[in-house]
Amino acid sequence: MSIQEENIARLVERRAAAREGGGAKRIDAQHAKGKLTARERLALLLDEGSFEEYDMFVQHRCTNFGMEKQHFDGDGVVTGCGTVDGRLVYVFAQDFTVSGGSLSKTMSEKICKVMDLALRNGAPLVGLNDSGGARIQEGIDALAGYGEIFERNILSSGVIPQVSGIFGPCAGGAVYSPALTDFTLMVKNTAYMFLTGPAVVKSVTGETVDQEQLGGASVHASKSGVAHFAAPTEQEGIATIRELLSYLPSNNMEEAPRTECNDPVGRVDDALNAIIPDNPNKAYDMYTVIGSIVDNGRFLEVHRDFARNIIVGFARMNGRSVGVVANQPNVLAGVLDINASRKAARFVRFCDAFNIPLVTLVDVPGFLPGTQQEYGAIITNGAKLLYAFGEATVPRVTVTLRKSYGGAHIVMSCKQLRGDINYAWPSANIAVMGADGAVNVLYAKDIKADPEHADEIFEAKKKEYEDLFSNPYQAAQKGYIDDIIEPRNTRFRIIRALEQLSGKRQSLPPKKHDNLPL
Ligand code: HXC
Repeated sequence: MSIQEENIARLVERRAAAREGGGAKRIDAQHAKGKLTARERLALLLDEGSFEEYDMFVQHRCTNFGMEKQHFDGDGVVTGCGTVDGRLVYVFAQDFTVSGGSLSKTMSEKICKVMDLALRNGAPLVGLNDSGGARIQEGIDALAGYGEIFERNILSSGVIPQVSGIFGPCAGGAVYSPALTDFTLMVKNTAYMFLTGPAVVKSVTGETVDQEQLGGASVHASKSGVAHFAAPTEQEGIATIRELLSYLPSNNMEEAPRTECNDPVGRVDDALNAIIPDNPNKAYDMYTVIGSIVDNGRFLEVHRDFARNIIVGFARMNGRSVGVVANQPNVLAGVLDINASRKAARFVRFCDAFNIPLVTLVDVPGFLPGTQQEYGAIITNGAKLLYAFGEATVPRVTVTLRKSYGGAHIVMSCKQLRGDINYAWPSANIAVMGADGAVNVLYAKDIKADPEHADEIFEAKKKEYEDLFSNPYQAAQKGYIDDIIEPRNTRFRIIRALEQLSGKRQSLPPKKHDNLPL
């Protein structure tokens, strides 16, 4: 064997060893838990043959607790870049088979290297987390490593899309990297996120809770809102990440990729003309409206199980990515509460940062009243959504389907918040409040003074109020609504508005940064 052949043989051997991670036994243990390895996950995420790996031979430098005798090439994380649908993406995937994927200083250096490359080259970063947290043997060095990662998450925010997949444990301060990214996806039954684990919870508060109840995917996808997506399997989770990326631009200077649209732009849907019930207190399903107007009915919902009274997600209209924000009359009558406001505000800000036009569908009876909401700061949280729409400079098309009352009317991308094109259906009802509430305020004294005719007075005044406000014409007369459209034409009208707005240029006054009500 020549020296060159020996060199190459050694490289092949080292590569093969590095690809084994923590070894066959630990890989088997990973599989036995129903989990894939870091490399198997990346193989599913990236286009075949596109993965370019970096730092395969990096080893930790720790000499504490016998660590000087334990070295694995790659040190518990696989990093590099590849493509998703032909577009460049930087990736890291923690390898639980090496020291439980725990974060060493060298692991953080590997992760930071791809984070820096992603930012410099304007490409999304996808991190697949599966880790026991800070590598205990490294002490403060591991913490410093987290700090380096967090800072890069923050600097990259609003510049490149950042997506976190949680495929195993993600505990302690480690949770803050995903929390700083744009989207977090968790896999059901195998992923969990919490600041303090069940044992610490028990000792501090006395509460008995298991990992799943404390920080499993279902909990974070439905109760806390920490997770934007909960996937039944790792394969489905990775497919969702790929689909999500397809709607996003690579960075904040680009537009999302436009795809060919085989769904006729002029497609009308007569069913929409009949979807609003005659009884204003009756609900209908906003998913039907969304499914009817977007290309091929395809909608990637974000936060599907959290704050279901508002719907947010990505779709395409004539091949162009749009962010859809829609009240859901089917859940809590579509009222805005703390969680709905937070959920939609975050989504609107993401779309605005990444040049994705916003389509807003309004049917909102107002903000949810009550002490629970007031004590929880509905004022501050509602203001987040108001702020998010008010500062958004991407094209904005809003359609009011039915109710649009009070403060909630303003919040939902009204004209005065620089909404670009605001349409209403003939069933729209834009007012300070609903008829019952208004009559009770305005005519309480008259009704009290004449109890015998209370019902008559109430009904007569209610009719007067409804005739005046229970239609979109007053708003249209004043130009607050640009046009009243037939529901069946909604797809066509939104697409035409978006085409018109595609060259929109609007900016904010110069400032260091805003002071969003947090
Ligand atoms: C070093 C670790 C480790 C860690 C796991 N391992 N966590 N090594 N540092 N943090 C090692 C184990 O020793 C074991 O090594 C291998 O990884 C697999 O771990 P197991 O315990 O066998 O796996 P499992 O039963 O699946 O349990 C997984 C686990 C548990 C729940 C994650 O390992 C665990 O509780 N780890 C500690 C979690 C923790 O407290 N982390 C620190 C949090 S504080 P061998 O050689 O046997 O394969 C923190 C601060 C961050 O992260 C602050 C940022 C601001």
